[in-house]
Amino acid sequence: MIVKFLKNIFFLNLKKAIIIIMNVKHKIFSEAFPPNEKGERQQLLSLSSFHNLVHGIEINTNEIIYKSLTKNNLLEIKNLHKEWFPIEYDDSYFQVILDNPCGNYFTIGAFYNIKNCNNNENKEIILGLALCEWDSISDYFINHTNSQTIEEISKNINVNEEVIACLKCQYYHCVYIMNIGVLDEYRKMNIGSNILTQILNIALKDDICVGIYLDVINYNKSAIKFYEKNNYKKVNEIKEYYEINGKKHDAHVYLRVITRKEKDEFREKNKTSSFKFINKYIINPITYIIKGFLFILLFQCCRKKKN
Ligand SMILES: CC(C)(COP(=O)(O)OP(=O)(O)OC[C@H]1O[C@@H](n2cnc3c(N)ncnc32)[C@H](O)[C@@H]1OP(=O)(O)O)[C@@H](O)C(=O)NCCC(=O)NCCS
Repeated sequence: MIVKFLKNIFFLNLKKAIIIIMNVKHKIFSEAFPPNEKGERQQLLSLSSFHNLVHGIEINTNEIIYKSLTKNNLLEIKNLHKEWFPIEYDDSYFQVILDNPCGNYFTIGAFYNIKNCNNNENKEIILGLALCEWDSISDYFINHTNSQTIEEISKNINVNEEVIACLKCQYYHCVYIMNIGVLDEYRKMNIGSNILTQILNIALKDDICVGIYLDVINYNKSAIKFYEKNNYKKVNEIKEYYEINGKKHDAHVYLRVITRKEKDEFREKNKTSSFKFINKYIINPITYIIKGFLFILLFQCCRKKKN
C-alpha cells in the first residue's frame, strides 16, 4: 500500500514536471470563435501561463476570491482574451479599463491561490474575469433599430413601460458587460455565474443603475444559455454587428433589469448582515466584559461583607 502511494506521488509529480519543463501547450476551445462549415470550432494553442500551473489541479470553488483586477494582471488578461475572443484588442483598451481615470469602468476577477511547484511559492491565478463599463443603454442597443417598439420590448422582458422609460432616460445608467470569460478547464463550475452575481451586487448598490446589458454573437449558444440561465432576457438583435475574418454576424442584446424592489431587498439584507457583524464582534464581547466586571465586583463586595 505504501509503495502504491509513493508510486502515485512520484508519477503524478513526474507528469507535472514534464509539463512544466516542456512548457506543453494545451489545446483550448472557445465558442466565441466562429464554427467552420462542418459546425466545428477551431482549437487554439494556449497562451496563458495559467494552463500549465493549474494542470491536473482540482480546485475548491469555495476558496475562489472575487475581486478587482489590477495592472499587474495585464499580460494574463491580454492572453486570456486572445484565447477567448476572435477580436483583437490593443493594449490601450485594457489600460484605460484598468487605469479607470474617470471611474467609468470596473472589473471582476475570480482569483485562486495555488502552490507553484517550481519554487513552492503561492501563486494567484485568474480562473475567470469580466470587464464592465457604466453606460447608458439608450444610445444604441434599444434604439438602434426601430424593429421593436417599447411595448414589444416590455412584453419580451416582462417589465412595465416605466422600467423601459428609466432605461432610456439619460439620468439613469446601466452596467455594460464588455467581456466575460472563464479558463476553459474550469467552465461549467458556476464561476461565470458567480462573476455575474458580483456584477449584480455592484449594480444593486448603485442608486441610479437600472440594468445590466451585453451583446453576444448569434452562434455562441453556450454563452446565450449562460445568460438566460442567469435571468438575462433578449431585448434586441442587431444585424451584422460583428465582422470576423471578413464575415458579418448578428448580435443579440441581453438585458437584466434591476428594479427598485430588488435594490430595497438587497439593502435590507445587507443591513441585517452588517448588524449581525456588529452584534457578534462588538456588542456581544462588550456585554461579556461588563458581565464579568459586575461578577467580580459582586464577588469583592461579598468578600468584604464577610470580613
Ligand atoms: C460563457 C462562459 C463565460 C460561461 O462560464 P461558466 O463558468 O462555464 O458558466 P457557469 O458554470 O456559471 O454556467 C451556468 C449555466 O450556463 C449554461 N452554460 C454554461 N456553459 C455552457 C455550455 N458550454 N453549454 C451549454 N450551456 C452552458 C448552463 O445552463 C449552465 O448551467 P448548468 O451547469 O446548471 O447547466 C464560458 O463558457 C466562457 O468563458 N466562454 C468563452 C468566452 C465567451 O464566450 N464569453 C462570452 C462572450 S459574450
